[in-house]
Amino acid sequence: MTPKLIIGVLVSGRGTNLQQILDDVENGKLHASVLVVVSNRESAQALAKAKAHGIPTIVIDPKTYASTEEYDGAILDALKNHGVDLVVLAGYMKVVSSVLIEAYRNRMMNIHPSLLPAFPGLHAQRQALECGVKMAGCTVHFVAEEVDAGPIILQAAVPVEEHDTEESLSARILEQEHQILPKALQLYSEGRLKVVGRRVEIADA
Ligand code: GRF
Repeated sequence: MTPKLIIGVLVSGRGTNLQQILDDVENGKLHASVLVVVSNRESAQALAKAKAHGIPTIVIDPKTYASTEEYDGAILDALKNHGVDLVVLAGYMKVVSSVLIEAYRNRMMNIHPSLLPAFPGLHAQRQALECGVKMAGCTVHFVAEEVDAGPIILQAAVPVEEHDTEESLSARILEQEHQILPKALQLYSEGRLKVVGRRVEIADA
């Protein structure tokens, strides 16, 4: 059996994606261990979810660092100290700098609530509704220098319904996020993802 993939998760808020990862690790769907959860916010509900599973949590306050690079350096130290192979941005509301991107090139995944490259940035679901698209969704991608860009690993499409609000559409997209993020992590843990230029090739099982 291959050694378990060591995951570190960066969070800022609610933490439902983190919860799904932890559940899938526990029920054996995801062959990995989450060894540290780092938040930029003390108030993130995700921290309690991690603690409930006995996972070490660290809060690193950006305000105590002179620059984003220094702050990301502190995050990098925390990840390295826990032997993290793969970083997951699960509702992490901060732009990451080259310090982290270079250290974890093609080893850092983000989940975004749109069918990228459409609607990067904040309020992706609202952007989709305002634009009148009939198909919304979510994307797991490797993190690159450009925000919400980088090689796409998996996507799930979610049809927009006539009377959708931002809340109702977000809720249906979130259900799909909870499917594709652990799936992408499991593919990674099986060594089946290969980045070729902008594309991610997925090898057969
Ligand atoms: C998700 O919609 C994710 O796509 C976005 O932030 C939200 C985080 O939700 N990046 P949660 O904290 O995992 O519940």
